[in-house]
Amino acid sequence: MEFEQEATGHKKYLIITFGCQMNEHDSEILAGILHNKGYIKTDKQEDADIILLNTCCIRETAESKVYGMLGRLRRLKKSNPDLVLGVCGCMTQQAEAAKKLRQRFPYVDLIFGTHNSHLLSDLLDKVMEKREPVLDVWSDVAPVTGELPVQRVSGIKALVNITYGCNNFCTYCIVPYVRGRERSRSPEDILQEVGGLVIAGYKEVTLLGQNVNSYGKDLKNPLDFADLLLMLEDTGIERIRYMTSHPRDFSDKLIQVIAKSKKVCEHFHLPVQAGSNRILRLMNRGYTRENYLELVDKIRCAVPQAGITTDIIVGFPGETEADFAATLDLLEKVRCYSAYTFVYNKRSGTPAANMQEQIEATVKKARIQELIKMQNKISLADNEAEVGRILDVLVEGPGKTGNNLTGRTRTNKLVVFAAQANFLTGQTVPVKIIKGRLSHLDGCPVNIKND
Ligand code: 5AD
Ligand code: SF4
Repeated sequence: MEFEQEATGHKKYLIITFGCQMNEHDSEILAGILHNKGYIKTDKQEDADIILLNTCCIRETAESKVYGMLGRLRRLKKSNPDLVLGVCGCMTQQAEAAKKLRQRFPYVDLIFGTHNSHLLSDLLDKVMEKREPVLDVWSDVAPVTGELPVQRVSGIKALVNITYGCNNFCTYCIVPYVRGRERSRSPEDILQEVGGLVIAGYKEVTLLGQNVNSYGKDLKNPLDFADLLLMLEDTGIERIRYMTSHPRDFSDKLIQVIAKSKKVCEHFHLPVQAGSNRILRLMNRGYTRENYLELVDKIRCAVPQAGITTDIIVGFPGETEADFAATLDLLEKVRCYSAYTFVYNKRSGTPAANMQEQIEATVKKARIQELIKMQNKISLADNEAEVGRILDVLVEGPGKTGNNLTGRTRTNKLVVFAAQANFLTGQTVPVKIIKGRLSHLDGCPVNIKND
């Protein structure tokens, strides 16, 4: 097969993705466009005819990685001048960053943003025709398009966009500026995509949006996220996940729909960001710590087996020791089984970047270390409490050692279990948990012939 592809002279692409699941899915669409253009995928930079960097700008570290990689790619571009080097995504959507990229890395052939990525095919034609660099970043959002080609990474679980953009304007966050205002995809389009995935053998979908809970508000015939979940219940998909929820918009109706659903997984990713009401207000989050605790209670009451995870930012401008202590206290009360923890990072153009009282790096570092230490204890204890339970695991494939398999529980915990039966990949099997670790569970399969 490999030989055939070589013989027919297919050009090859490599897409390197930074950032969140939204970006991962955008890369699957870029891959789909390239595939339709006759390109095939390669994992080797040296073999590629086109390399695309799909970038993230949520924190400075994400941007530094892109600069580092572009620096390293200079040599490859020199030895292979026909290589088309492209940069796209959230970073290039910012006019300043795009300009800086242009100046610092003149050998980049193509720069485009998040709003015109569906036009990759035409942009590439332009590069080939002109044989000179193309910079095309749209400031306006593109209309929500129905069908775009997709080359998915997994054959078991699929990412499906339901909304684009964000209207929340949390004061620390760059996303609304690079992804535009919130737009919902029509339920018909989503149903059609999920239906197609079921026919293709997919077991799980993750519905994607910056704030899935506000789905549908902008549609001609408004419906809400809970209604969409109800519509997807009978599509034949085995598991439904969603990412990300905003705690302010998590309605009672939604909790009830999830509690009754057989398909929607009992994983609630509820980014709290901070535990102090003063900081939550400064962040423009629209809820208090009391609201958050009440929401968690309601969820645990309706869905006793719920697995809750969160995002936390430490060192937001003006955060005092007392504010930070309130965050630790909230985490201790909620006991999420996992938390993504971030040090606040100034993003130019956001209101928080101009706030007085930016916190010293050393203070931020000490706080995040204390937070991680505490969260690790909670995560380990929560995973240890799973020992002895039999959990349904959707098997994703072989693990690192070759004689084990990995998969996820409905609460989205990673499970590693001894088994060589590769035919189990894509199946949901009962696994008995024998050990809880910091970020995964060890298990042994129940009633599976291990041959
Ligand atoms: N600094 C640090 N963390 C941030 N996040 C978003 N913006 C920033 C920032 N400027 C975090 C939030 C969000 C997650 C995706 O990234 O916690 O939920
Ligand atoms: Fe950023 Fe807030 Fe929108 Fe999330 S909800 S993408 S943190 S602005």
